[in-house]
Amino acid sequence: MEREWAPDSGSLHRFGDEISAVVTGANRGLGLAFCRQLLRVPRVSRIHAACRNPEAAKDLAALSASELSRLRILPMDVTKEPSIAQMAARVGEEGRPVNLVINVAGLLHRYSADGDGPGPERRLADIDPQWLEESFRVNASGPLLVAKHLQPLLPRRAHAVFASISARVGSIGDNRLGGWYAYRGSKAAQNMFTRSLGIELRRRAAGIVCVGLHPGTTDTGLSRPFQKGVPPGKLFTPDRAAGYLLTVIDGLDSDDNGSFFAWDGAEIPW
Ligand SMILES: NC(=O)c1ccc[n+]([C@@H]2O[C@H](COP(=O)([O-])OP(=O)(O)OC[C@H]3O[C@@H](n4cnc5c(N)ncnc54)[C@H](OP(=O)(O)O)[C@@H]3O)[C@@H](O)[C@H]2O)c1
Repeated sequence: MEREWAPDSGSLHRFGDEISAVVTGANRGLGLAFCRQLLRVPRVSRIHAACRNPEAAKDLAALSASELSRLRILPMDVTKEPSIAQMAARVGEEGRPVNLVINVAGLLHRYSADGDGPGPERRLADIDPQWLEESFRVNASGPLLVAKHLQPLLPRRAHAVFASISARVGSIGDNRLGGWYAYRGSKAAQNMFTRSLGIELRRRAAGIVCVGLHPGTTDTGLSRPFQKGVPPGKLFTPDRAAGYLLTVIDGLDSDDNGSFFAWDGAEIPW
């Protein structure tokens, strides 16, 4: 399914005439690319682009300036629940349901731009409890708290998608190499939360489909230190990866609730 994402008036049609989306981690990498690609879809009428530091989000501000009526930047740090509540309150002020949520904010390592700092753990001796905690707060609790505060804004019956960008290395069934404890563990916890959310959110939002999504290795700050072994053609630009995942989102139906998909639409074992 390695088709180029080429949105037209039929794209994301299951969502109805108007899509109001929330994207987290929207200032760079995959989050920014999701915003750019969603703006190409005619039925997307609103994107609430949440990021930690809007003042520093130059690329997002440029996108917002060119698409003033459709993209709105909102401050939110997923480790600070009041900021999530505030984001949801501002989204709610618009008085229309949110039918697409894409949780993109995430972290993997503490390398600086020049490569200094601790990378993901290779062995038990590398375990740092503070980093474990931080990884769980961002990668696992983050999407769960976003769900907690956006839940009242989901449509009661219509089709809606709550997607969390996970990673194949968060699959327990697929783990053959070990290591990367904080990232693997926090993404596995995120996956479990996605699965539980799929069950609970349906009680209020009958048309909700909750999924975990793996973007493939994508050329962002998060993957940059680990790109050496990636085969040619398998290192995606953020726009390409976002396009693939929007194609997956476009194809989701009710039966897909609680599943985990890769960029090419293949299901990944939990
Ligand atoms: N790139 C890949 O190859 C790859 C592969 C598999 C899965 N993923 C997943 O894809 C997602 C996006 O990653 P990326 O590659 O786009 O990484 P990235 O370029 O490093 O971007 C990470 C984003 O997360 C945000 N973020 C971090 N901590 C946050 C917090 N406490 N509150 C709010 N936002 C926070 C960052 O905001 P700041 O700019 O403020 O730091 C940034 O917008 C992650 O969940 C990652 O696990 C990526």
